[in-house]
Amino acid sequence: MPRLTADRRHPVSFTLNGKRVSGQAEPRMLLSDFLRHEIGATGTHLGCEHGVCGACTVQIDGGLARACLALAVQTEGAEVRTVEGLSPDGGATLSVLQNAFREHHGLQCGFCTPGFLVTLDALFRNEPHASEDRIREMLSGHLCRCTGYAPIIKAALAAQATLLASAAKPDPDDAMPEEDVHA
Ligand code: FES
Ligand code: FES
Repeated sequence: MPRLTADRRHPVSFTLNGKRVSGQAEPRMLLSDFLRHEIGATGTHLGCEHGVCGACTVQIDGGLARACLALAVQTEGAEVRTVEGLSPDGGATLSVLQNAFREHHGLQCGFCTPGFLVTLDALFRNEPHASEDRIREMLSGHLCRCTGYAPIIKAALAAQATLLASAAKPDPDDAMPEEDVHA
């Protein structure tokens, strides 16, 4: 990494939810502040701002990270995924996970929800058959002041079942073409 000057803003550019974004950041600027204030991506929330509550969780190059503990300049050239990237069509439709949270009352005020969703999205991509214990372990790094957690676990299990069922369905495009029958 090149040496950066502390009191100067430096260009930062990375891929956010599949699109190239860029802005300026002092070396000490947090990724969470860069996303929210420089890019305008306010889906990533800030609770504790010291790595405890999980509200600011994002994916950087496929791994989970607290955006309040990462520096914006560290993400130069990286692939960043936030809650805004979960919808399959840029926000018009909810993802399976988001739908499950809505159906099973996995949120009340919704402040903690982006972090829960981003963590579960990474978990189900990497470990689609994760056990309930594993889901609980992954979510233990997230705090919610509203739900009592039971509906969140229920939503996570429901989303996982839906994702597994759709992965098991044969893709119609893969079906063998029927042979022409000539009389
Ligand atoms: S705001 Fe980052 S962990 Fe709480
Ligand atoms: S839904 Fe309110 S903090 Fe989690």
